[in-house]
Amino acid sequence: MSFQELVPEHLRGLGPYAAGKSVKRAQAESGIECVKLASNENPFGPSPAAMEAIRAGADQVNFYPDNDESALVTALAAKHELARDQILVTAGSTSFLDVICRTLLGPGLNAVTSSRSFIQYPLLTRAAGGHLVEAPMQDDRFDLQAVLRAITPATRVVFVANPNNPTGTLLQPGEIDLFLERVPRNLLVVLDEAYADFAAGFAGPRNLEYSHSERYVREGRQVLVLRTFSKAHGLAGLRVGYGFGSAEVISVFARVRTIFSVSGLAEAAALAALSDHTHISRVLHNNAQGAEWLLRELQALGLRALPTWANFVYFDVPEPARELADRLQLEGVIVRPLTAWGAPSSIRVSIGTPEQNELFIRALQRCLAAVSAH
Ligand SMILES: Cc1ncc(COP(=O)(O)O)c(C=O)c1O
Repeated sequence: MSFQELVPEHLRGLGPYAAGKSVKRAQAESGIECVKLASNENPFGPSPAAMEAIRAGADQVNFYPDNDESALVTALAAKHELARDQILVTAGSTSFLDVICRTLLGPGLNAVTSSRSFIQYPLLTRAAGGHLVEAPMQDDRFDLQAVLRAITPATRVVFVANPNNPTGTLLQPGEIDLFLERVPRNLLVVLDEAYADFAAGFAGPRNLEYSHSERYVREGRQVLVLRTFSKAHGLAGLRVGYGFGSAEVISVFARVRTIFSVSGLAEAAALAALSDHTHISRVLHNNAQGAEWLLRELQALGLRALPTWANFVYFDVPEPARELADRLQLEGVIVRPLTAWGAPSSIRVSIGTPEQNELFIRALQRCLAAVSAH
């Protein structure tokens, strides 16, 4: 008997997840120093306060962590003006998404999202035995009307990534207000706000509002909001994120979550990062400047690039994105071709430091020039 036969049918066809290539691997392949602009990480690293907290906590790792993340939950409750029992910390928001799928989905049930959205939605949905329905996009944005039309009696969850990864586009709070008025009450709407800090940073100067997510939770709507410390706070490698929702919803997810999955170091670092406003301001300022510069440079190269609300830029290229990404890597820059998202001629590049952005644009110019010379 083969091992495959022991595996439930819905798990047999699961493909592997191809993560953004690590600098180490890319350098081994290319033989030159590489800059990674493929996974929307923070180019400045963690805040110095978080580094200090990690050092201070290092000699405590013989102990299991605080399974309730009490200190971090207290700080997050104050930040969002919610009760402590409305917040749950997980090992990155990906882990929260996994808990949501395992809790609410199974054979015969589905989740609804948009096409070209976060790549984990299909993987986690399938791993839980459910099915993911992807509504078409409109103008590179979530089409909430199409999402509403895709909902069936078997739908248990709707994932809305806002800003969306990989397009970087935003739904205005008014659009989500309206959507929540119309969506059936017997399902959970997950507002995935992984890039909230960047979006909020862009909203002020653009004279727009970012999100009403805290208000939805206070109003008692069937909404779960996800945030992460992986992006603006620069802690992707430590795996810490959280969600907030009604106490009832949170208490169910808390029971499904794997115990002790958030390390004491991750909690301490997140707590320190949360109040390092100087570091966050520096990160947001660099991101806003880089977003504008990259958009201009990409458009000057004749490429269609989308204005972003996050820390990455989506653009179209005149050849298979995978091939161009391979050549960019030989020039020392790792980007994300979006072939697996169903966008074989599009690339997502993370916004780096000014030097990294410049390196990327010069490399791209050389790659595109080499193609047109052929
Ligand atoms: C839309 C979206 N949600 C969630 C995440 C997960 O982040 P993490 O698991 O690092 O918290 C990401 C990461 O890229 C993302 O783009």
